[in-house]
Amino acid sequence: MPRRRLSYRGFGLTLEVPEGVRRAIRRVKPTRAAGTTGLVVEAPPAFAIQSRARQRASTRDFAAKASAGEPNGADAVSDHPWYHTIEFPDGYVTEGHYDHRVLVPRYGLPDDLRGKTALDVGSGDGFWAFELERRGAQVTSLDIETFADVDLPPALHAIFVEHPCNLFFRHGFEIAHRRLDSRVKTINATVYDLDPEVVGTFDFVHAGDILLHLRDPALALQRLLAVTSGECLIADCFDPALDALGVGPGLTRYRGGWDDATWWAPALSTLVQMVVDAGFADVQIVTTYSLANRDSAQRPWRAVLRARN
Ligand SMILES: C[S@@+](CC[C@H](N)C(=O)[O-])C[C@H]1O[C@@H](n2cnc3c(N)ncnc32)[C@H](O)[C@@H]1O
Repeated sequence: MPRRRLSYRGFGLTLEVPEGVRRAIRRVKPTRAAGTTGLVVEAPPAFAIQSRARQRASTRDFAAKASAGEPNGADAVSDHPWYHTIEFPDGYVTEGHYDHRVLVPRYGLPDDLRGKTALDVGSGDGFWAFELERRGAQVTSLDIETFADVDLPPALHAIFVEHPCNLFFRHGFEIAHRRLDSRVKTINATVYDLDPEVVGTFDFVHAGDILLHLRDPALALQRLLAVTSGECLIADCFDPALDALGVGPGLTRYRGGWDDATWWAPALSTLVQMVVDAGFADVQIVTTYSLANRDSAQRPWRAVLRARN
């Protein structure tokens, strides 16, 4: 392999350069710093690559326990690890991680959905699906069923293949559905499977806090558009520090799906750009908010976006 001597700001370096790379290097226009060689060499910045050993171990521990004892099928309201705070007609209020009730007036849901069809994607325990029903819509709720259906890094996915277990969400949804005497229909599927030929289209579509959990949020947005005949409300997390850098849309923090299946924290401008790029029209920011989580000190920022097909 040809050898090449490079020097930059007093540092010398001898490289073995494959022929293809030599040709590419020759094509680079010389810059002032590069002198006549056409190549600028800088020491790479220092960074730490994580082995993710902690996440592997805790996931293995969790999956082994969860697959050994599924939550019982009974109406065990107080035993269920509620994600949503939901009020039942008898006055019982579930102790959810999040209490979205304070957010409802600012969330941008249409007041009157009578005679309309609505789809709630990734319903969790169903707070928003039941709220859409309360406003008069004929609601369908789509969610995945098992941990193996979650977009996870391959190492974590393999653990849930070895130790199969259901997500807790659908169990909570079923309890709430019974208690509320709800008529919301359910589809057990992933957002990527949304196909208008199979499920039809909906006047109103809601997707709350799901994009951050997806390996391919851009594809998911395209599937949401395909089943939206009217309006789509998309609520998701963003990282305000990224827009503060002032470089415009495009920045996203990669988290890789290791903690709580969280893959991305985009800038708000990036989130809006993604919705526009998927083909939605009239994209507006309804609100931005940070909501307390009963079990965590972290309060990520979220935005609600309204978009049309
Ligand atoms: C953080 S919870 C959000 C619950 C609710 N939508 C809200 O806004 O409060 C995320 C939900 O997305 C669902 N989910 C994750 N991956 C999914 C996928 N590929 N397709 C459909 N739903 C998914 C989870 O099962 C869970 O119900």
